[in-house]
Amino acid sequence: MFLLKVLKSDANLSELRAQSLGVLVFEGKMDEALDALGDLKGPIKLQADIENFNGKKEKAFKVTLPGSRIPRVFLVGLGLESEVKLDDFRVAAAIYTKEAQKSCAEELYLFFPKISAPLSQAIAEGCLLGSYQFDLYKTKKEKGESGIKDVYIIGGDYEFIERGVHLACGQNYARGLANEPPNVINPLSLANIASELANDMKLDCKIYDEKELEEMGMNALLAVGKGSVNPPRLIHLTYKQAADSRVKVALVGKGLTFDSGGLNIKASENMRTMKGDKAGACTLLGVMRTLPKLNLQIEVHALIGAVENMPSGSSYKPDDIIRAYNGKTIEIDNTDAEGRVTMADILSFASGLSPSCILDVATLTGACAVALGPYTAGLFSNDQAFCNTLLEISSFTGERLWQLPLDDVRLRKRLDSPFADVLNSAGRYGGAITAAMFLREFVREGISWAHLDIAGVNYYKDPFGYYPKGASGFGVRTILEWLSKLQGP
Ligand code: BES
Ligand code: MN
Ligand code: ZN
Repeated sequence: MFLLKVLKSDANLSELRAQSLGVLVFEGKMDEALDALGDLKGPIKLQADIENFNGKKEKAFKVTLPGSRIPRVFLVGLGLESEVKLDDFRVAAAIYTKEAQKSCAEELYLFFPKISAPLSQAIAEGCLLGSYQFDLYKTKKEKGESGIKDVYIIGGDYEFIERGVHLACGQNYARGLANEPPNVINPLSLANIASELANDMKLDCKIYDEKELEEMGMNALLAVGKGSVNPPRLIHLTYKQAADSRVKVALVGKGLTFDSGGLNIKASENMRTMKGDKAGACTLLGVMRTLPKLNLQIEVHALIGAVENMPSGSSYKPDDIIRAYNGKTIEIDNTDAEGRVTMADILSFASGLSPSCILDVATLTGACAVALGPYTAGLFSNDQAFCNTLLEISSFTGERLWQLPLDDVRLRKRLDSPFADVLNSAGRYGGAITAAMFLREFVREGISWAHLDIAGVNYYKDPFGYYPKGASGFGVRTILEWLSKLQGP
């Protein structure tokens, strides 16, 4: 699936022999970018000039130099130096690997004259993220797809390249899992994968089956799973390196292995891609798989509600009133607002572990996608400092977040139920906000909590930048950077 290895190289460009070289170029600064190339600078510049390539953002230009020491040189534009962002380097590195994938080069070199430690990481991430494709079920692989074996980043920082490799592999793992179809991944198989992952990575793992969940009083999670022949599971993975970890964190993930809507069944066009409703869970598994590689001295709990939402004679119904794990009663208005019902129990359970903070990740509402579009996830929090930290990290990882409000007390009233403590849905208007307000009811007071609504960003029909067709793996890098920061210097 990911054959790419990303490595550091100290090669001298004026002598380097290579199958392929990528050069990242600021707009209008071709000379600067090519100076180190020695004898090849002239012929490359000549060809670029003929075709008017001058480094525009997201544009690539292939120079062929038959018989020379580097027969293929790809120039990739970064746009104007004065406007460049870190994420532009991820995109440029992804464009290079994607373009080179179409040729038959196996060993790629990549060069940027002013490379720094953070740039080394971003470029490594871009190479790996850009080259990912989900082709597990293609009998005939497309040409060139698996040709590339290694990418060498010239002059990069070894440790930061390695860090980028770990983070991007975590994200690609999350993508691969989220892309798996719902006839392969159901609550049971997801739990098995989590326990195998725990075994491989030396994490603690406890899977709760439906009987245990019943004894515990996880009635909300169980209600959502009632319509399916595949019973729910609660997955609890723990990473704890040091005996006296300084910080304890709980991560909560929505793991709907398929969301048909239940009895409030979805229209056909909305049901398509609902295998992706487990993306929050996949993001957490990508994070947990990477944590041991980063060797952080913190305690991290990942709690995943793995459930399938299906219509049948045993399904939960609109009008049902369910008592959740924390004792609060939920009146079901709409069985398609199932993610929050599942997460109600898991957030209460997570609160019981007394972490200093809880971060949840969920493909929770179409309303969030409508509000923010397909490139930005919704961020909600009861703690502004926590929120600001995540926003700052997001500007670094390129995983766009935007804060939405939780303080609208009139809107909150729409979740009031005539017969129970809370309704599970308050209609379309402000739908992302009321969903987050519902979740807040199940976080114990005094715990810092943030919620990421990734419904808009978890899945792309068309590829762009370093995102392929299908699952995005959104959130893995932001969460890992945040956890790294939590540890302190
Ligand atoms: N899984 C969906 C949200 C979703 C929509 C994710 C589109 C990814 C893409 C969620 O369970 C859902 O169905 N939400 C409803 C809530 C409504 C019934 C209040 C929605 O968004 O329409
Ligand atoms: Mn739903
Ligand atoms: Zn859902």
